[in-house]
Amino acid sequence: MSDIQQAGTFTLGSHTVKRLGYGAMQLAGPGVFGPPKDHDAALAVLREAVAQGVDHIDTSDFYGPHVTNRLIREALAPYPDDLVIVTKIGARRGADGSWLPAFSREALTQAVHDNLSNLGLEVLDVVNLRVMFDTHGPAEGSIEAPLTVLAELQRKGLVRHIGLSNVTAAQIAQGRRIAEIVCVQNQYNLAHRGDDSLIDDLARDGIAYVPFFPLGGFNPLQSSTLSDVAQRLGATSMQVALAWLLRRAPNILLIPGTSSVGHLRENLAAGELVLSDNVLSELDGIAMAA
Ligand SMILES: NC(=O)c1ccc[n+]([C@@H]2O[C@H](COP(=O)([O-])OP(=O)(O)OC[C@H]3O[C@@H](n4cnc5c(N)ncnc54)[C@H](OP(=O)(O)O)[C@@H]3O)[C@@H](O)[C@H]2O)c1
Repeated sequence: MSDIQQAGTFTLGSHTVKRLGYGAMQLAGPGVFGPPKDHDAALAVLREAVAQGVDHIDTSDFYGPHVTNRLIREALAPYPDDLVIVTKIGARRGADGSWLPAFSREALTQAVHDNLSNLGLEVLDVVNLRVMFDTHGPAEGSIEAPLTVLAELQRKGLVRHIGLSNVTAAQIAQGRRIAEIVCVQNQYNLAHRGDDSLIDDLARDGIAYVPFFPLGGFNPLQSSTLSDVAQRLGATSMQVALAWLLRRAPNILLIPGTSSVGHLRENLAAGELVLSDNVLSELDGIAMAA
């Protein structure tokens, strides 16, 4: 069993969590739509994550929809006291599996209630507002109206902490004037480094940065530099990619996604990998070449 404590901890809302967590999106069916190929295998991944010491799981009720939250509940409830389940609202799925914005007061309120009932919780620990001006990346636009609704749900006691996802620095600044923001979840990895300066700014303010697609998501990271480094270190490319993120900034919390117990164990073992400064600069070259 790997010791994920070695990767350290960071504050997420009212908890201190281990920096190696787990993202549940891959547990739904193909295209994050419908049930998993193998229901029992999905439950096994969740149980193994917690058995290995994971105390931070990322999900949403729009994965499936409803699928990953119900799997989490079936596999893990009653939940360990130290488990932080982070969910997100702001999108809904079309009948064809498309990802659509769902930012009205009614949709946001319903999404919080759906997350509560499907996860079997009375309060959601952290809820990210997933901004959808552009589904594929941050785009400017006011988030005041939807975030005000989420802040009201927080005041009603349904949500403990608020985060933002797929956002620009300006939206984070606007958001922080409306509510306390405890985490930001944007796309970021070895090859996709648009948030470099944002991560450092958030680190200074003690706000967690949770990169989605840490392994490249639907297009897994591929680079000869990455494979060369991995071979030299006796590790896998995915482990090196995760170890690089852990080194990149202390406020980065990892939620790599997998539907496989083998990959889960491999990813959690990345916390034991030490990267020298020379290796770091080699890996930094990947984004420059991209
Ligand atoms: N806020 C947002 O907009 C947003 C968007 C996307 C995702 N997320 C969250 O971020 C989490 C992470 O993102 P993600 O799961 O989409 O992408 P990811 O972690 O970058 O990569 C997942 C992909 O890598 C594969 N993989 C995982 N570990 C592997 C390993 N050790 N070796 C080889 N392949 C491996 C998985 O396949 P296998 O299943 O075969 O292992 C899957 O295809 C999600 O689970 C979700 O919770 C948030």
